[in-house]
Amino acid sequence: MDIITVGLDERSYPIYIGQGLLTDGSLLKKHIGGTSAMVVSNEVVAPLYLSAVEPALHGLRHDAIILPDGEQFKNIETLNTIYTGLLGARFDRGTTLVALGGGVVGDMTGYAAASYLRGVNFIQIPTTLLAQVDSSVGGKTGINHPLGKNMIGAFYQPECVLIDTDTLDTLDDRQLSAGIAEIIKYGLIRDAEFFEWLEANMDKLLARDPQALVFAIRRSCENKAAVVAADEYERSGQRALLNLGHTFGHAIETGLGYGEWLHGEAVACGMVMAAQLSERMDWLQHADVARLSELIKRARLPVVPPASISGERFHELMSIDKKVMDGQLRLILLKAIGKAVMTAEYDPAALHAILDTRTAA
Ligand code: NAD
Ligand code: GLY
Repeated sequence: MDIITVGLDERSYPIYIGQGLLTDGSLLKKHIGGTSAMVVSNEVVAPLYLSAVEPALHGLRHDAIILPDGEQFKNIETLNTIYTGLLGARFDRGTTLVALGGGVVGDMTGYAAASYLRGVNFIQIPTTLLAQVDSSVGGKTGINHPLGKNMIGAFYQPECVLIDTDTLDTLDDRQLSAGIAEIIKYGLIRDAEFFEWLEANMDKLLARDPQALVFAIRRSCENKAAVVAADEYERSGQRALLNLGHTFGHAIETGLGYGEWLHGEAVACGMVMAAQLSERMDWLQHADVARLSELIKRARLPVVPPASISGERFHELMSIDKKVMDGQLRLILLKAIGKAVMTAEYDPAALHAILDTRTAA
């Protein structure tokens, strides 16, 4: 088992990565402080893994809330069903919420934990590759609004992140690729050596080679933990770099309707668009844009935005973004593979040209 620490002083916590961590149960037990636990999962994940988690909860008062599955349910109504389940069963401040599922379950459970009784403990058990390499780490929690993705939420850190790589066995190939999008992101924004490793090992990742998967998960979590420790609340600009491709991607997700493209697919395409804009700014060589576009294609991810979203609509959707400051949209662009910047200093005409383009790099 690997252990990575997210270093946040008294709120520091471990990320455990290994096989069989769910059936072992001792780690989960160790991090539940109080006398009760509520597992929050969904109708796809619960039948697969709830029974593996439950033995660790014996001796505690415990129950489970099963949410509907899908990004389209990451909303205030579903959040309310978590509150209703907790209040109805009189779960008090000694309760730990256990998020068992992908990023949708993790983000919503984290936000429920941040707000229920003004804050209870929670634990992340991410079961998708995307959640294991990104969403379960760092304490961004929240829900979508019809007008914008992840627009309601809180920074709220878990007690631990428990990554059992065995859970990936039941994940389909499309979801695996969506997770690889966020893995590629770390290479692009701050880890050129990892990007090269991904170029050399993409086929192994797609074939689910266990060693390659564990390496990619560990390296991604190390990168994320370092960024979160340096800029937990996204104040210095460092954490915002984790949003490479996300402003474009969130516009795709909101524009098509939540759940149509997977989050990782939208981010992958958004990273290509950010790279194309970086090239138009003369910051990135065409050869690098082609290189990253090629890697994303090899990961079976899209590189061209949907034709149904016009350039104008794209622009409108992108104007609702958490990185808008004083009315000015800031974007994450690339200066090189392994070096990202947040900037409002892009040429608006170049951005419009990218939003109108529907051809690959
Ligand atoms: P998801 O949670 O919808 O999971 C994808 C699908 O896989 C779902 O149908 C789910 O039920 C199913 N599933 C989960 N685990 C499974 C398993 N082991 N076997 C079989 N099926 C399984 O999507 P996701 O890609 O995990 O997460 C996307 C969400 O994460 C988005 O809402 C995004 O905004 C959010 N996100 C948050 C952060 C953050 O920092 N908080 C970072 C990145 C993404
Ligand atoms: N996924 C972006 C962040 O955690 O900041």
